This record gives sequence, structure tokens and C-alpha cells, in this order.
Amino acid sequence: MNSADSILTHFKKYKDMSINIDITRGKPEGLQLDISNELLSLKVDPITESGIDLRNYGEPLGIEEARELGSQILGAPSKNIIAAEQSSLLLTYQTFLSYYLFSDDPWKKRKSKKFIYPVPGFDRHFRILEDFDIEVITVPLKDDGVDIEEYTKILKENNDVCGILSVPRHSNPSGETFTDENIKKIFKIGKEYSDNFLFIFDHAYLVHDFLPTIKQTPIWSIATTEKVTDNCVVATSFSKVTFGGGGLSFILSGGRSFNLIKRMRESMIICPDKINQKRHVMFLKDIDNITNHMKKHAELILPKFEAVKKILSDIPSECGSFSNPTGGYFMTYNFNKPIATKVQTICEEMGLYITPASSLFPKGKCLDNVLRIAPTYVSVNKLELAMNIFITAVQIAHFDIEY
Ligand SMILES: Cc1ncc(COP(=O)(O)O)c(C=O)c1O
Repeated sequence: MNSADSILTHFKKYKDMSINIDITRGKPEGLQLDISNELLSLKVDPITESGIDLRNYGEPLGIEEARELGSQILGAPSKNIIAAEQSSLLLTYQTFLSYYLFSDDPWKKRKSKKFIYPVPGFDRHFRILEDFDIEVITVPLKDDGVDIEEYTKILKENNDVCGILSVPRHSNPSGETFTDENIKKIFKIGKEYSDNFLFIFDHAYLVHDFLPTIKQTPIWSIATTEKVTDNCVVATSFSKVTFGGGGLSFILSGGRSFNLIKRMRESMIICPDKINQKRHVMFLKDIDNITNHMKKHAELILPKFEAVKKILSDIPSECGSFSNPTGGYFMTYNFNKPIATKVQTICEEMGLYITPASSLFPKGKCLDNVLRIAPTYVSVNKLELAMNIFITAVQIAHFDIEY
């Protein structure tokens, strides 16, 4: 351990530097956005080969070429995919709304409704659940995915659970990738619980590896084997492939779920932005090209994660440990004491802004034992400074040093 005096010297030095570094959100940096600049000048022929006029209304499920691209990345038939607009968050919201309003047993009529969510998790998901007055039952995340023992126990103890929402690859914030076995068990146990149990997967980081990652069978194949395709919904987008909020989004579902989401969207949207869909198809082409494109992102992102890990390893192990993602946009530092908010406050005193610990849990369920680090948006130099501030704050909080 560094001595209290040397830790305080660092604290004072950083405090006097008028630092202002914000790593609260997982945004791509400018150089990552530049990778897709060709999209800005691509000339799109307004009439497609199959005679669709991209400038007009029509094709509410997305143009066939875009659905085909979705089919390649999601490993599912294009007939089960809606190629949409803007973001996966929007599609996830539309999924909840469709079940809330239009399912056979609409959630809005239920006295109590609950959803299972593996934590730590994504604050915007918690907002969706809150908007629909759905109580969140948290389940711990393990290295291989959802804690199955706990998941089983929750379902035994509750009779009003509507489903589970999770991020199965490079989860936000800790970066776990679920194994096939884990996904299979999620399906099996959920199906045994109820024929209406809904499995929603936010595949925000489906193609976002920066290091070798365990092989994951497409969720749709597992759902098909387990006969749960009617209750399975998978969302993804190109927000972190091309431009944030300016890419395409995809929703994959079957039977009842597909019809509900389609029904919901028909009330809201006459058709997606087909010109942007065509532009993306021309630019991204196919899965192999997307994999190459994502390698360019990885080249920019990996050194940042490596820089973070190198500096975090200097924290004495008695304070805690950090997660070790192989892709995605986030990692976590897990504290051995409930000091996350204290660490975040001390970081702010030195000019480093981190996502509050409470954002990683549903309201009132914060364990205060983990903070999210989002390395992508700032330069490596700034990130190194940020992490040196972070390790100073961790040690002040853990060793209860007066500052
Ligand atoms: C799990 C998860 N889902 C969705 C998003 C946002 O993606 P989109 O822009 O497609 O909604 C993020 C971004 O941080 C995310 O981490």
C-alpha cells in the first residue's frame, strides 16, 4: 500500500490542477465516428433493385436488404426481423409498451408486475421498467451469465413475474458474456414458470469484441431448440457501429411477440427511414465486412481498456477487483467495502466525473459496491490521468484517510 501521506499528496496535486474529465457515459470518440464517414457522402439510388421507392412511405418492417443484414448479424431468419430506426432502446421501449397495452393479458391491467434483471445493469433499462410501474427483482450476474440458482429461487417465490431483461454479450457495465448453457437454462426455467414469460435480450454489443470472446450460439437458435421463439425478443443497433442514434436498429422476435411489436409500431411509425437503411446496407454490406469494420473500432478501444487495467492493478487487492471484459464499452471496479458513492464523490473533488453507483441498480436497490468505468470517449492520456485520480480516491475511501 502507498502511505497515507503519499496518497494525500496525490489528492492535493490533482485537486490543484483544475481537472475536468467526464467518463460518465459510454460514447465513441471522434476517431471511431470517422471510421464511418463514408456514409456521409454515399450516393443512394432512390429506386431499389426490387422497385421500392426509398423516398416514399412503405416497407414498415424495413427494406429487405436491411432485414437481411439484421438476419446475418443475429443469426435468424429475416422474416423474424424488423429493420427499424434510431436505437435499440426505442425498440425495447416499444416492446414493453406493446405488452403493456396489447398482450392477451395486458400488463396495464395487472395489479402487480415484476421483471428480473441481472445487476449491475444499465440505468436506461431501469427507467423503462419504472415508466411501466414494473418492480425489478435483481439477480446477480456471474462470469457465465445470470445466477441460475437465484433466478430459479426468485421464480419459485413470486407468481407475478412477467419476464427477464438482460444484456447477454459484453454486458453493461461489467462486461460478462453469457454462455450457451446459461441462456438455455434461462429459457428452460422461464418456460416452466409460465407460457407467457418474456425473454428480452438487449444485444447492444453483439459485434463489439476487442479481444477473443467465448463463442456464443445465436440466441435465436437456442430459442428455437427450447421452443420459446414466441416469447423471445432480441434488440440490437448500429449506434456503436456507425453513428450514435444515426444507425439502424433491429428487433428479432417470433409469433405472438413479433405481431405485438408490429402492431405497436403501426400506431407510431408509418415507415422507417429507408434511405438511411439503404445507405447502411451499401456501406456495411455483410457480416464479414461488419467484422472487419468492428476491428477498426477495436484497434482504437483496446489500448484504452488496457491502460485502465494497468493502472487499476496498482490498487492494493484488499480494496477490491476489476472486471475484465473482452468487448463492449464498460468495465467495473468492485469494492470489498460499500464505498462506491464515497469514491465517486472524492473523484469529483479532483475533477473526475463517474456514473453514480446508484445508476447501476434499480431505485432503492443500490449495493454501493461497484462503479462503472467508461474508457472510450476520452484520449489515452486523459484516461491515464482519470485512472490515477480514481486509484487515489479508492485508497482514500478504503483506508478511511482524512482528506
Ligand atoms: C446495454 C445497452 N443498450 C442500449 C444502449 C444504447 O444503444 P442504442 O443507441 O441502440 O439505444 C447502450 C448504450 O450505452 C447500452 O449499453
